[in-house]
Amino acid sequence: MSTDKTEQTEVVFTPYEISLCLHDVHRTRLWKEAIEDTVKAGDVVIDAGSGTGILGVFAALAGARHVYCIELHPRFVKLIEHLAERNGVGDRVTVIQADASNVTIPEPADVLICELLCTGQFFEPQVQVVRHLRQFLRPEATLIPRRIESFIRLLDAQEMIYGVRIDCDSRSVVMDDDEPISNRVCYDQIDLHNPNLLKVDAVVEVTARKSRQCDAVLIEGRAELIEGLFTETTRFLYNPEVIFLKEPVELTKGQRYRVHIGYGYGTDTLDAALKVEPA
Ligand SMILES: C[S@@+](CC[C@H](N)C(=O)[O-])C[C@H]1O[C@@H](n2cnc3c(N)ncnc32)[C@H](O)[C@@H]1O
Repeated sequence: MSTDKTEQTEVVFTPYEISLCLHDVHRTRLWKEAIEDTVKAGDVVIDAGSGTGILGVFAALAGARHVYCIELHPRFVKLIEHLAERNGVGDRVTVIQADASNVTIPEPADVLICELLCTGQFFEPQVQVVRHLRQFLRPEATLIPRRIESFIRLLDAQEMIYGVRIDCDSRSVVMDDDEPISNRVCYDQIDLHNPNLLKVDAVVEVTARKSRQCDAVLIEGRAELIEGLFTETTRFLYNPEVIFLKEPVELTKGQRYRVHIGYGYGTDTLDAALKVEPA
């Protein structure tokens, strides 16, 4: 499958950020469980977006015959090799420094691990990478994660912080005084076995819980790693995204509202098209 420039995104991670992934114990234990339940002795595994290499090393320790760790940034390559060697699996881990949405894997794989998750699949190229790497998977291969869901609700968002009015366009944190003012609905489901689309363009309906001004939407997400095992907001990762509306909307309690949301996977929350109107 060819990959053109529109299928790639560019996110630069720092050592600080990937160490947050490693030390987000709740998140990383979920991935360990999913990998240990999936990888069988003799499997070939791809770990796309390896960072520290922790997920690839879990796969090697679970018995994989070989693990290909794909990492975009040269500065992380030594880190991954070192981790594999320190844990006695250096001979079964190969690090390929490349863009995982444009790389060649030397042999067919049984398992694809890819942790390029971000709430709503903004910013990170999970979908682009999985679309590209599918050509190197055996037909019965397992994908971790297998599915991604994104949820939206209307928000009365706090704009006065520290006594200062902050005109955010978007933020990856929920403040104590942010108040959800509608129910939460799922607006997108990505089946990673068959990721046909590179964008979401959805219209969903919600009901107002309060008569209040809605100035933002709250996006939350979760990914199903293996059947029944989900990762969602953890200590440092998969943060909710608050995206402000260009024009606030006055809600009436009990009234239904139509929410339109559109964006390309891997793009910035600021570029999302958003509209809220009475249904
Ligand atoms: C969220 S971190 C995950 C690290 C690790 N897999 C983990 O779970 O702890 C994402 C990593 O993917 C790398 N990355 C981002 N885009 C990539 C791409 N297109 N190809 C390969 N690696 C990429 C980043 O440099 C970063 O190290």
